[in-house]
Order: sequence, then structure tokens, then C-alpha cells
Amino acid sequence: MVADAKKPLSLAQRLAAIRQNGAVVTQTGVDPSCREFEFKASDFERIRKLIYDHAGISLSPAKQDMVYSRLARRLRATGMKSFAQYLDHLEQGRDGAEWERFVNSLTTNLTSFFREPHHFPILANHLRKVAAQRRQINIWCCAASTGEEPYSIAMTVADTFPSGGPQVSILCSDLDTNVLAVAEKGVYPRERTDKIPQEQLKRYFLKGTGSQEGMACVRPELRRMLTFRQINLLEPGWPVKGPLDVIFCRNVMIYFDKPTQYKILSRFVPLLQPDGLMFAGHSESFLHASDLFRSLGKTVYELARKAG
Ligand SMILES: C[S@@+](CC[C@H](N)C(=O)[O-])C[C@H]1O[C@@H](n2cnc3c(N)ncnc32)[C@H](O)[C@@H]1O
Repeated sequence: MVADAKKPLSLAQRLAAIRQNGAVVTQTGVDPSCREFEFKASDFERIRKLIYDHAGISLSPAKQDMVYSRLARRLRATGMKSFAQYLDHLEQGRDGAEWERFVNSLTTNLTSFFREPHHFPILANHLRKVAAQRRQINIWCCAASTGEEPYSIAMTVADTFPSGGPQVSILCSDLDTNVLAVAEKGVYPRERTDKIPQEQLKRYFLKGTGSQEGMACVRPELRRMLTFRQINLLEPGWPVKGPLDVIFCRNVMIYFDKPTQYKILSRFVPLLQPDGLMFAGHSESFLHASDLFRSLGKTVYELARKAG
């Protein structure tokens, strides 16, 4: 069955395709038989289970096209002939490097500098309050992606304490090792820094020259606040030392189901200072964990039960 690429398949056509070969009929109406590799519903289910068990990421059926195109690249790169062969290879568990590439392929890393800007004045106020009591401030940015978020936090810290202040350390972690490597470099195409006000851009970035022409490089003074570590939020035993004053956990919980979110939130509780804050993403709500965290509005949370 060959479909007109622009014309979605009718319901009857979709059902016929499923009956014929058990293939995944995509929501965008792309004819599966035009694909380079056969992609069966059972392949998608295997992928769904693997990434859910490993990273907590729940892939909805609407993600089938995305999964196909991202993993088809891995099949090409490894020379595998089918999804079944590739998945068998992964499930044998002997190729750690390919497993890492598989996971990296399935993460969604969208981020930007000063994303959800209303959080940063709240962070600055909190930092001032904490600095009046403590000389060390610890922040964990637990889904740091390519680093725009932790560097925005670091700029806020530096702006809040212009003439020195408390010792501030920011732990940046992510599951995806590719994005973490970008974060660690701290070098961004100039157009990605558009949202940074000119004054901060001058103060905290250097203009790239030579091979880095057209790039903005984070100044070492800012970068020094940050440490980088791969951490899977799903794994037990995070290598994170509390007490933390702030946790940024933005736009990652949306990929997890509610029981997984609850488990992670309950592990944040003992890590946070009694007056600590947790920042969540704009579409994340933790009403189902109201015994753990209380909303302060604007997707900022405090502990529901403050100790002491
Ligand atoms: C959409 S980005 C959000 C980036 C940033 N926090 C923001 O709001 O701009 C989601 C990030 O979560 C990471 N992620 C997904 N599953 C994870 C897991 N199980 N543990 C840690 N990080 C995970 C992804 O690799 C990705 O970089």
C-alpha cells in the first residue's frame, strides 16, 4: 500500500495495514512500507519497555515516528538490518556504549537560557535569604540538558552577590551524556544567547575567536561554580550530597508517570534544607504529592513538612 505523503491514511487503510503485517501505522499517516526498516508494533513496545524501565520515560503512541527516525540512525550506524536485531543486541546487555547511545537518542533536550524567566527573581530572593544564615549554598540542577539552565542559575547567583558572598556550588546532572558534554564545554552559538540581556552577555561570556568564531563561551569565573555528573533520576543511590538549598527539576517530570514522579519527589525530601525550594516546569504539577511538597505558586515548591 503506497500512500500520498500529504494525504492521511483512512481508518480502513490503517486497519488493513495492521492486518497485513502488524506494522505500526503512524499518527501522521506516513506509510510504514515506505520506511527503510520495518518497524512493527512489537518493536515499539519493546523500545517503550526498555526506556521506561531504564529511565522512567513514558513514550506515548504519538511518539512512534520520532522513535523510528531517531533509532533508524542507530541501525544505520551499527549496520543492523532490523529493529528486532538491534533490540536483541541491546537486550543482551553487553554493549554498554550502544546502550548509552540508545538512551541518548530517546531523550528530549529542549532548553534555553532564562527559560521560564519568572523563576529567576524568586531564586535571587531565596539566595539572599539563605546567605543571611549560611555561608555555603548548594544547588542541584537535575535535568540540566545542554547547560543553559544551570548557567542561568549561575548568572543569577553572580548578579545577586556582585561583590562576593557565600560559597555557591551548582551540581548539574542529566541522564544524557551527550548533552552533559555540551553543558560542560559551555560554548554556544551566538543565536542561542539571544535571550540573555546584553549586559549579562558581556559580563559572563567571551566572544569566540578562531575555530569558535560566532560562538559565545561562558567565562571561567561563572563556570567554576558548576560541577557535572551523569545521574539517572530513576537509579537508586544518587551521588548527591545534601543538604541542598535549591533543586531545579524542570521539564523532566513530564516524561514520567505519576508513581515515578512520586518516588523521585520522596527522594528529594531528605536532601532539601527545611527552608529549601524546588523549581518545576511550567506544565508540571505535584498536587498528587501534596504530602511531600506544597506549592508556593508559579511552579515553585517548598517542603510540605518543614523539619525544625
Ligand atoms: C526537556 S529537557 C529540560 C531541560 C531543562 N531542565 C529545562 O527545563 O530547560 C529534559 C531533560 O531531562 C533529561 N532526562 C530524561 N530522563 C531523565 C532521567 N531519568 N534522569 C535524568 N535526566 C533525565 C533529558 O536528557 C533532558 O536533557
